[in-house]
Amino acid sequence: MSVAQLPVTRRRGGEARLPLPPGPQSRRPGEFLSLLAHDHIGLFRRLAEGGDVSTVRLGPRRLVLLSHPDDIQRLLVTEQKNFVKGYALDRVKMFLGEGLLTSEGASHLRQRRLMQPAFHRERIAAYGEVMAEYAQRTAARWTDGATFDVHEAMMELTRDVAGKTLFDLDVGNDPGGVSEAVSLSLQMYRWAVLPFGSLLEYIPIPFTRRVQRARARLDAWLAETIKQRREEGVDRGDLLSMLIRARDESDGQGMTDQQLRDEVVTLFVAGHETTAVALSWTWYLLSQHPEVEAALHAELDGVLGGSPPRVSDVPRLQYTRMVLTEAMRLYPPAWILERRALGDFEAQGYRIPAGSLVFASQYLVHRDPRWWEEPERFDPDRWRPERAGNRPKFAFFPFGAGTRVCIGEQFAWMEGTLILATIAQKWRLVHDPSHVVELEPLVTLRPKYGMRMTAVRR
Ligand code: HEM
Repeated sequence: MSVAQLPVTRRRGGEARLPLPPGPQSRRPGEFLSLLAHDHIGLFRRLAEGGDVSTVRLGPRRLVLLSHPDDIQRLLVTEQKNFVKGYALDRVKMFLGEGLLTSEGASHLRQRRLMQPAFHRERIAAYGEVMAEYAQRTAARWTDGATFDVHEAMMELTRDVAGKTLFDLDVGNDPGGVSEAVSLSLQMYRWAVLPFGSLLEYIPIPFTRRVQRARARLDAWLAETIKQRREEGVDRGDLLSMLIRARDESDGQGMTDQQLRDEVVTLFVAGHETTAVALSWTWYLLSQHPEVEAALHAELDGVLGGSPPRVSDVPRLQYTRMVLTEAMRLYPPAWILERRALGDFEAQGYRIPAGSLVFASQYLVHRDPRWWEEPERFDPDRWRPERAGNRPKFAFFPFGAGTRVCIGEQFAWMEGTLILATIAQKWRLVHDPSHVVELEPLVTLRPKYGMRMTAVRR
């Protein structure tokens, strides 16, 4: 339907008003609430059936899904001032505080300015040496024929890289219970997104007490670490050193201890699970596509000639990057973005009222047949420049866009490429056929039962 054909309702004064977007018909009472509780991807897939702009009301809230890349561009970039983050991230504040991911407005911009230098090219290159070294250690520990959970192995590896690059610490033995606090908080998040979920924190059941204890332990450990580092006053080359020394140009002020705590926890959470998830799906896809795996090995053998990959090799590992990109198309670690509209917003001739929760799903748009030929096919070659064609820019947005674009994007590309190259140079990972592969779309798109695979030496 063209915009001109849409019915226009009139207010009492005669002023024209665009209609609300359509939505899918519910098939049974409570269908959408039940999907919200049990099947988040299913909920948005059903919503997408309503069209490029589709809506459903859940209790007091109106959910709107935007599925057209042009509208997603307006949501994230050109009209981003009309939006703030949604309720799901509000819930994450219980744990992350006012870090970069959750803060808004002037305080977000100030924190972003202060943190940007920690992600400059030369800094990422220095972290890259840590990434390569840690990937080598992991590859050296594996034994031929061993079967294990590769997702767990990737989580450990990216957690150790985050620990070293963020705090210059070996977090392998989980000082301060960082991993425990993160993992429990994510389990809680599953319930926190439900209506009244925010109250969960205050119900004194054993689980919430455990979460609170784990967070208190983490906070005490971080406070002590920050205090020590301030006293030391040395640049250890890690992110925390940079954040402690960062000063805002406008007022010469640095971050308070609370801000440092919130930023460090945010970076740790945002910066290791996402990359681990991307790698776990990459290993799975490679195991299912021997021709892609062979092409990857050919590039690694040709470019590296048997030497371990280094930061300086990354620009020549083009196919490796294409493999990672294609895996993030099919299994985007951040599978959906949420915003709350401050004022009315118009999309495709419909009016999205202020207060609506507006979503854009990488998982769904990355598989839309209008933009992707054979969308379900794992085909890294589609990323060759000659095949990119005139695909809309926002048909692929794994790192978001606009002022809230992922600050760690270059960090993630460096880490993903070096880990993939280092491990694939030495090992093939064969999927255990008895293992069930299923999606678990929490904050990230985890493989629900991990990823059981067997390491075979190349
Ligand atoms: C494959 C890996 C990664 C993916 C797919 C990813 C994805 C994203 C996405 C989609 C956003 C935007 C969220 C929104 O607009 O609501 C985001 C924001 C963010 N990411 Fe990442 N991320 C990855 C790795 C990292 C890493 C390695 C770090 C840090 C070391 C990081 C730190 C952050 C932070 C702090 C934000 C908030 C930025 C802001 O609002 O200013 N991410 N990420």
